[in-house]
Amino acid sequence: MDGDHVLLYLDQRRTFLVKVEAGKTFHTHKGFIKFDDIIRKEYGSTVLSSTGVRFTVLRPLLRDYIMKAVRRTQITYPKDIALIIIFSGIGPGSQVAEAGTGTGALTTALAHFVRPNGRVYSYEVRGEFLETAEKNLKRAGLMEYVELKNKDITAGIDETGLDAVILDMATPWLVVPHAYKALKPCGTLVSFSPTIDQTVKTVEALKENGFIDIETVECLMRGMQIERGKTRPQTLMTAHTGYITSARKALEPVSEKEA
Ligand SMILES: C[S@@+](CC[C@H](N)C(=O)[O-])C[C@H]1O[C@@H](n2cnc3c(N)ncnc32)[C@H](O)[C@@H]1O
Repeated sequence: MDGDHVLLYLDQRRTFLVKVEAGKTFHTHKGFIKFDDIIRKEYGSTVLSSTGVRFTVLRPLLRDYIMKAVRRTQITYPKDIALIIIFSGIGPGSQVAEAGTGTGALTTALAHFVRPNGRVYSYEVRGEFLETAEKNLKRAGLMEYVELKNKDITAGIDETGLDAVILDMATPWLVVPHAYKALKPCGTLVSFSPTIDQTVKTVEALKENGFIDIETVECLMRGMQIERGKTRPQTLMTAHTGYITSARKALEPVSEKEA
């Protein structure tokens, strides 16, 4: 376990994603934990802090790396990432272009699913964001599947024959013609936008540029509190993140009027 990341779990609200380093300690508000005590343990076992509080040592999941990423921007949330992945149709071996990298949360998920022989080409105009994204990707052990590009994707996509183009950026409609050229036939475009105005412009551009099977959804996730006699939805929820639009590249698009 030395050199690996673990999730130290106290309860659902108090978890810590840390790198285990022999001879060192990790300090929490419940006392410190000696990494040497963790190294000898299996995932799922517990460790006592200096004040006698018990933490469970968990193997981090993809969602832990996403939610604990050092943030420079708003990130794409796991509920939206799940749909983006399924609409894009990507999997091991897929070649994917993405923009903007931002914090790299969505990039982390894309890299997770295209490995071991796929690649994510991630475009970002702000160089300083790429530095943070690189750190987040390295921590998740996924940097080798990603090429970070300090470029404006509205100026064009360098790659061709792509399986998918994934967008979470201010002006996705400007990327649509470039995406059509970069995608292989039947390749997918998935775009996430917080506003309806962006979504309408993107859908119009998709219709005008040879894409079919265009669909827009919003995913609302409501947590439940479960306890006999008191089970009900949680009072508070994230009311809005964004709209997800997906489409496929057709070689000979048939207009809806013709169909
Ligand atoms: C909301 S953030 C993306 C967050 C990212 N999906 C994540 O999960 O961490 C949007 C990013 O798009 C970048 N961006 C905006 N326009 C762009 C463009 N034309 N080309 C590349 N990146 C762009 C911004 O700098 C910003 O970092």
